[in-house]
Amino acid sequence: MTAGLTLCSGIATAADAAAGKAAAQSKCVQCHEADDWEGESAASLESLIRDIVAGKVKHKSKLQLSEAEIADIAAYWGKGGK
Ligand code: HEC
Repeated sequence: MTAGLTLCSGIATAADAAAGKAAAQSKCVQCHEADDWEGESAASLESLIRDIVAGKVKHKSKLQLSEAEIADIAAYWGKGGK
């Protein structure tokens, strides 16, 4: 189990909601809460976040996330922030 600062753990083989929680809390929580995404699946969040990072979807601030962070945050939010 990875807890705490896992932002440098490299490419994750599977989405890790605990790592996603850490990443979301450091980069997204000032504007978003996990509750904001109620009813969204991890898969749809993942493609949405990926499009934001790629610049295809407009976002308030430019997001810089690794592939692993995108999947991890989507997993965390997709579970309703648990
Ligand atoms: C400076 C404030 C701010 C930060 C930080 C921020 N966001 Fe956002 N984000 C917004 C606003 C404002 C919107 C548009 C209104 C809304 O949907 O809440 C938005 C919308 C989104 C959307 C929905 C886009 C759509 O078209 O439906 C996603 C997904 C998202 N943000 C992901 C993230 C992620 C992931 C992070 C952290 C890595 C993050 N945001 C950090 C302000 C922010």
